[in-house]
Amino acid sequence: MIAYSDGVFSLSGKGFSYLFRLTGSGQPEHLHFGPVVSARDAQALACKPGTGWGESILYDQDSKLCLNFPPLEWSGSGRGDYRESPIWLERNGEAIPTDFRYVSHEIVDGPIPSSLPQARYGGESLKLTLEDPRGLRLHLIYTVFDDAITRRTVLENNTKDAITLRKLMSFCLDLPGKLEMTSFGGGWAAEMRSATASVSWNRIVSESTTGFSSARAQAGFLLCEEGAGEDSGVVYGINLIYTGNHYASAQRSLQGLNRVMQGISPDSFGWPLAPGEGFETPEAVLCWSDQGKNGMSQRMHRFVNRHIIPKAWQYRERPVLYNSWEGCVFDFNQARLLSLGKQAKDLGCELFVLDDGWFGARNSDTAGLGDYTVNRKKLPEGLDGLGRALNKMGLQFGLWFEPEAVNPDSDLYRLHPDWALTDELPQLYGRNELLLDLTRQEVRDYIVENVSRVLDSAPISYVKWDMNRSSIALGARAHRYILGLYEVLDRIFTPRPEILLESCSSGGNRFDLGMLCFSPQVWASDNTDPIARLEIQQNLSCLYPQSTIGAHVSAAPHGQTLRNTPLYTRGNVAFFGCLGYELDLKELAAVERQEIRGQVEFYKKYRRIFQFGSFRRISTEEGICWQVGDVHTRLAGLYHLLQPTAPGYERLRVPGLKPGKTYTLESRRQLLRMRQFGGMVNHVLPVKLNPEGAVIRQADRRYAMKDGREHFTATGAALGQGVMLSARFTGTGYDPDLRLHTDFGSNVYVIEEEASHEKSE
Ligand code: GLA
Repeated sequence: MIAYSDGVFSLSGKGFSYLFRLTGSGQPEHLHFGPVVSARDAQALACKPGTGWGESILYDQDSKLCLNFPPLEWSGSGRGDYRESPIWLERNGEAIPTDFRYVSHEIVDGPIPSSLPQARYGGESLKLTLEDPRGLRLHLIYTVFDDAITRRTVLENNTKDAITLRKLMSFCLDLPGKLEMTSFGGGWAAEMRSATASVSWNRIVSESTTGFSSARAQAGFLLCEEGAGEDSGVVYGINLIYTGNHYASAQRSLQGLNRVMQGISPDSFGWPLAPGEGFETPEAVLCWSDQGKNGMSQRMHRFVNRHIIPKAWQYRERPVLYNSWEGCVFDFNQARLLSLGKQAKDLGCELFVLDDGWFGARNSDTAGLGDYTVNRKKLPEGLDGLGRALNKMGLQFGLWFEPEAVNPDSDLYRLHPDWALTDELPQLYGRNELLLDLTRQEVRDYIVENVSRVLDSAPISYVKWDMNRSSIALGARAHRYILGLYEVLDRIFTPRPEILLESCSSGGNRFDLGMLCFSPQVWASDNTDPIARLEIQQNLSCLYPQSTIGAHVSAAPHGQTLRNTPLYTRGNVAFFGCLGYELDLKELAAVERQEIRGQVEFYKKYRRIFQFGSFRRISTEEGICWQVGDVHTRLAGLYHLLQPTAPGYERLRVPGLKPGKTYTLESRRQLLRMRQFGGMVNHVLPVKLNPEGAVIRQADRRYAMKDGREHFTATGAALGQGVMLSARFTGTGYDPDLRLHTDFGSNVYVIEEEASHEKSE
């Protein structure tokens, strides 16, 4: 709800307020972002100017207003505020000052439509209009939802001069408190590494300049008050609904305010604004909680699920998929695919995704991108024939595309070399490809027509939309490319809302809220090693709900890390996302099939909770613990890294249950490989066998060991403080109750309220 009275604006969501007021000279002064307060508190919450500080410049002699000090909602440049400015304009190549003051405001139901993807479905908006003495108009647009507020800006050049926009942030805000900024970065196969630093005099910047949101710098970040943890303390979560170059910064002033801003990266940016023209920034999302990082991310998850994900896919269960890439790469034909389909179906998969290699001369990554003719050598009955055959088996059919790129060795490039995104310097290739110039209408039309034609030619219910190289476009062109991309996605998928779109960019190079406005899920990383995924998925969980995270089980040793991990752990990690399998099923041993069947069955039983249940990261002494669910049912994943010698007692803490209720706790039935015990099997066998010999190798493929089983009841109170799990293997003998884990062992526990067993969301 938004209210205005006596110069005070009050925006209230569920359990939080956001307040600002107008100074005597019309600047919006930030008052509060936190627990619910009243607009009557404005005076009490406002900073008191006192007599000023030293050499500062007075903006207004009478009120002693000096723009360098108060907490502001926006600031200009060259008017005495020497903190970082959210705006930078040039006229004739020279920076010009700006000075925006309030002129009017408007409060409306729902979001104010933008030309960029934006939060939707509900909310209330405030458009605050400010004006500079020369006729520049700036609209600060706020929309308040239950769990977050969004902010963006629109600049209109109503002067008689052409100007160039070098920087225009989506928001600017001065927050109080001793804050730490946690940002996320990395690269291919190493997405979402986190870095935390105290906000101090040195500006902290998280910025992407690759042309896309990029794995190098995730757009979302956290600001935590010193001492805040997973379950307590003040945490702000901030993100940008944008897929292009982005920028976020935080810097502390001497007076103890933290200036925070986010928007399109100003690096090389320059957008010409002729008289009468305007520019819209992407929308930023701001979320507050005093319940720690878990409290903040639960809010953020609800916000993304309700206001970002397309309506047709909101809270809609995602199918368990099989993807052909890691198993086949480019080496497949219809017979091989159908054989894989049959096996995938037998394991419980619901959707078969044919990845790269189905079109043109695409037999390696050197050729074919840009072309859409189906390779009849591989698929004699075409996509339609393949899709129907899969449907007949009871599988849905999904298809991979990389529509934004072109290989120079392609029919499209031979016909339209000028459609590639180039600059005046010699061409540079990434994965043997160039990007298509999506700033051009005919290029956008070509993609829309061809992808649409393929989608309508076969029973395709899922699309993996990939993009595998960084851009060379700078500045305005880079932004125009992203606008072109949004147009293409809108034209293809808005008329086909039933297609489940999964965005991918060499893994998680475009895990952002802009893509999520079109694609309900994103391929989080080409790295499917479960231990690497613990970090990637855990950090993603700070900003994005599980239903947006594509998570697959693949072969071990893993292709990127050469790490050998138990199959059960690969499943236990992938459960906390949209589960899929991506390996050559023909190579599976009978025991592996049995384990996978068990995984898929278990996942389907609890899929709603895994994908949409409320997520918590739980601090533990020895491992990593994730939990999803509510007060009735909780699923807890507990993961270990290196197995310690003589491991000690281990408790599982399940906070937030009803203290007086009784719950059953049961571990998932998971299968262990015999060979992990090496020569030790001889201690329990009647005959002596060579652990490397054929008999043990054969037996290992057929017979599994069962992991120790956990099954007991406890009250919510006991579970809340931590219940004791059965012992781990200590090298002193065998007991069927032991957790027989090697390095990278794990399990998933189901904790259900007795006699209730209610379904939860
Ligand atoms: C990228 C994707 C992979 C796969 C390949 C196909 O690397 O991230 O998942 O689709 O392209 O070429």
